[in-house]
Amino acid sequence: MGFERSRSLSARAHRLIPGGAHTYAKGDDQYPEEAPGFIARGQGCHVWDVDGNEFIEYGMGLRAVTLGHAHPAVVEAAIREIRQGLNFNRPSPVEVACAERFLSMITTAEMVKFAKDGSAVTTAAIKLARAHTGRTKIALCADHPFFSYNDWFIGTTAMDAGIAETEKELIATFRYNDLASLSAVFDDHPRQIAAVILEPARLEEPAEGFLQGVQALCAANGAVLIFDECMTGFRWANGGAQSVYGVTPDLSCFGKAMANGFALSALAGRRELMELGGLNTDHARVFLLSTTHGAETGALGAAIATMGVYQSEDVIGALHRTGERLRSGVESAAQRHGVSDQVSVAGRPCHLLYATRDGSGQPSQAFRTLFLQELLRRGVLAPSFVVSYAHGDDDVDRTVDAVDGALSVYRRALDEGVERYLVGRPVKPVFRQFS
Ligand SMILES: Cc1ncc(COP(=O)(O)O)c(C=O)c1O
Repeated sequence: MGFERSRSLSARAHRLIPGGAHTYAKGDDQYPEEAPGFIARGQGCHVWDVDGNEFIEYGMGLRAVTLGHAHPAVVEAAIREIRQGLNFNRPSPVEVACAERFLSMITTAEMVKFAKDGSAVTTAAIKLARAHTGRTKIALCADHPFFSYNDWFIGTTAMDAGIAETEKELIATFRYNDLASLSAVFDDHPRQIAAVILEPARLEEPAEGFLQGVQALCAANGAVLIFDECMTGFRWANGGAQSVYGVTPDLSCFGKAMANGFALSALAGRRELMELGGLNTDHARVFLLSTTHGAETGALGAAIATMGVYQSEDVIGALHRTGERLRSGVESAAQRHGVSDQVSVAGRPCHLLYATRDGSGQPSQAFRTLFLQELLRRGVLAPSFVVSYAHGDDDVDRTVDAVDGALSVYRRALDEGVERYLVGRPVKPVFRQFS
């Protein structure tokens, strides 16, 4: 497997684009040295790099692509809209059709406004909460890795250069499944918390009563409850994780998966809050998500088609079944090679992540890199084990074979030293202060 074209494109990219990519999670520092640098095309769950190597892909498009690459109905719908024109001086009917379709899925919300990025809608939710409460502080869940590229969140990470201290002072953190830690935030900042933001679930399921407890604490303290459903939306259930757990937030944010990779996100929630950004309000008006490209018709057409597939086919059931098959195959392979303490799979079957540990049980970037490297050698591109509707049983079985081969190398590396098997440097976390 050669990567010559990828390497030469990478050299050009790094001269022209900071980091060589437009998303940190796609960067060279996230992958082994022997990895495809650029993907030329995708079909279903398969991708081909610029050197012609083929891979089964997981977590496709940073988890935006849930139906599979180039899904025909979605592509057709987008092209149909694009042929009519992309952007006009007044709204297009497709904006209303898409809002209706969205609210027929997320039935717990009363209004919706579209944008292009998940970050834009979580930030808009924070702004609405601040305007509604007249407060400025935000409580965010410290166990959830990403809410926005905006300063209010990035200021909480190790990569906080360029962010004013005053931004950081407005954020307090609490722990997932730990109501006492959220209570403490409210006690430490009486009548100052505008909003509580968390993912309804991530790797851990909510403990019995946790989300209800968060909601009750918000109500008792006059704070707005925001669910970030960028990951869980269109994956946990058609109605979002909020429908699975039976807790309706004041506002929720969707940003992946709703348009099968087309750029579209949504802020949804209670009319009373959402109308602060509308025309039917006596309150001071909130400048809510007004962007040139927010309602670009191609993405809205793609979203309607994507949601149509969710409603007419059992996409969610398939994601869970496929993930379960993969989880059990990976776990059996780990047992066979005696590495169950090192390589484990966690999460809901529709959203599986894996952990890679060294011989002493510590999380290890070197072993993660080795596992990625050995999977790539066997035709699998898997920064996670997040499946799509396009992953068939055959793809999963081939993946399990690849995992089996990768784990035999992992076992040897545990016994003989990872440096004997890893080619080049290990991957690094995105959020670090220095390169
Ligand atoms: C939970 C969550 N919220 C928000 C975002 C931000 O979305 P975007 O990258 O579209 O701005 C992400 C992106 O990974 C996410 O995972």
